[in-house]
Amino acid sequence: MECCSIQISSPLSSSVLNLQGSSSPYDRKFSNKSLHPWLPSSPLPKPFLQLNDRPQSFVSRKSLASHSSRTKSRSISAEAAKQSWDFGRFLKTIYFFNGPPSPAKFFEFLIEKLSSPSPSKPEKAMDTSGIILVAGATGGVGRRVVDILQKKGFPVRVLVRNEEKARRMLGPDIDLIVGDITKESTLVPECFKGVRKVINAVSVIVGPKEGDTPDRAKYSQGIKFFEPEIKGDSPEMVEYIGMKNLINAVKESVGLRKGKLLFGFEDNNLRELAWGALDDVVMGGVSESTFQIDLTGSEVGGPAGVFKGVVSTANNGGFTSIRTKNFSVPEDVSAYEGLELRLKGDGRRYKLIIRTSRNWDTVGYTASFDTVADQWQSIRLPFSSLRPIFRARTVSDAPPFDPTSVISLQLMFSKFEYDGKLNPTFVEGAFQLPLSSIRTYIKDPICSRFVHVSSAGVTRPERPGLDLSKQPPAVRLNKELGFILTFKLKV
Ligand SMILES: NC(=O)c1ccc[n+]([C@@H]2O[C@H](COP(=O)([O-])OP(=O)(O)OC[C@H]3O[C@@H](n4cnc5c(N)ncnc54)[C@H](OP(=O)(O)O)[C@@H]3O)[C@@H](O)[C@H]2O)c1
Repeated sequence: MECCSIQISSPLSSSVLNLQGSSSPYDRKFSNKSLHPWLPSSPLPKPFLQLNDRPQSFVSRKSLASHSSRTKSRSISAEAAKQSWDFGRFLKTIYFFNGPPSPAKFFEFLIEKLSSPSPSKPEKAMDTSGIILVAGATGGVGRRVVDILQKKGFPVRVLVRNEEKARRMLGPDIDLIVGDITKESTLVPECFKGVRKVINAVSVIVGPKEGDTPDRAKYSQGIKFFEPEIKGDSPEMVEYIGMKNLINAVKESVGLRKGKLLFGFEDNNLRELAWGALDDVVMGGVSESTFQIDLTGSEVGGPAGVFKGVVSTANNGGFTSIRTKNFSVPEDVSAYEGLELRLKGDGRRYKLIIRTSRNWDTVGYTASFDTVADQWQSIRLPFSSLRPIFRARTVSDAPPFDPTSVISLQLMFSKFEYDGKLNPTFVEGAFQLPLSSIRTYIKDPICSRFVHVSSAGVTRPERPGLDLSKQPPAVRLNKELGFILTFKLKV
């Protein structure tokens, strides 16, 4: 059952607008709902005071009330002997992550909640299948590959042009995608979800000029070499354009050797993320940070982002962070083992927090990492090392990290570790962390994930000094057969 509890009261009262509604049991349990358009008018509402890096006990109901009764002044004194808290910066933070307050948006939200009370969506199953895709599975090589993989117990999916032929040949229950690699529009990325490896046995169809026999006797060694010709699409279409289409279709799920850039600079292009400061100001603290692009800040004199600020434990605070807005399209990083940060350390311990939910105040899959002072370094954070953390506590029954749906990233410098522990490297004052990239990685050694079954003894026919008369017939016939071998080698 989806839950929707609504209490509306004066924006300045301590009992705040409290909307709860989420689509999964997981979100219901850990979320106080994402920042809402109206929340800015409610000072220090619950979600902001209970960010995940701060034990709940640090903020009492009493201090809530005390904050909320003094919100008219821009900068207020929280309590005697405490530093002044910047309400304007607090509002700016809310505004950045949630946009301007909008009554219209609020009513839309309300109607949506009231009109669809219990969609009870099933929980998204974790994809751990690691399917092997065989392309060209109805061919002489492809169908043998399928047979061997199935006998070894691997999960197999096939890419075929003709479903009927495939089911007849490979069995009625074969997991298949119908597509033609020469036609990009037939290779729907959704169909390749869960595919981790590819064996490509697609090839130009070559047959005897004088026609084939039903039992393909002419192919048998020793009878004769038939006079061959191409029967369908050209080598350029199949072996080159088709191959490129196939690689494009599977690269998200299979992964790239060099990883996928989530943030940073590559080939003179900046992959930017909408980072915003999220400091302990949201809980009454006075720490402050920014994230700015320094055009010459990287180790090679190119651009880098710089996370910097001043952290203070005044008013029971003690953390600064930068968090991205929610990605409009979730990042699927399931082909990779983890994230790699290229940064210049300062000897302190930071945290990376990954969220897989759109809700604001929810479990963050977190990894702490130590840095070396004044050194550019690559920090690898395997997904398997992420801990589900909610308000500085490990959530033992949280669902496992779902790498198919990364929604936001957060980088944090905090006094607090997890479960009551403190960051041993924490010091108050100024800090600076230049960050040139965040990318996914595949751990070494990298095994082949895409195998192209080519022709035995492929030889580049235009190679200087090559005596074609001494080459096998296939190489000699390359020209007559539309340069099949040349195109096979081209991608
Ligand atoms: N056979 C051998 O002894 C041998 C030895 C060494 C290397 N090889 C290499 O292995 C590869 C496969 O050879 P093979 O003998 O298995 O060839 P094949 O029997 O002619 O099979 C070709 C396969 O590719 C599929 N195909 C063709 N165009 C396609 C397209 N546009 N989209 C999707 N599928 C397409 C065919 O599907 P349809 O069923 O729909 O036509 C068929 O499944 C070739 O590169 C060949 O050089 C073969």
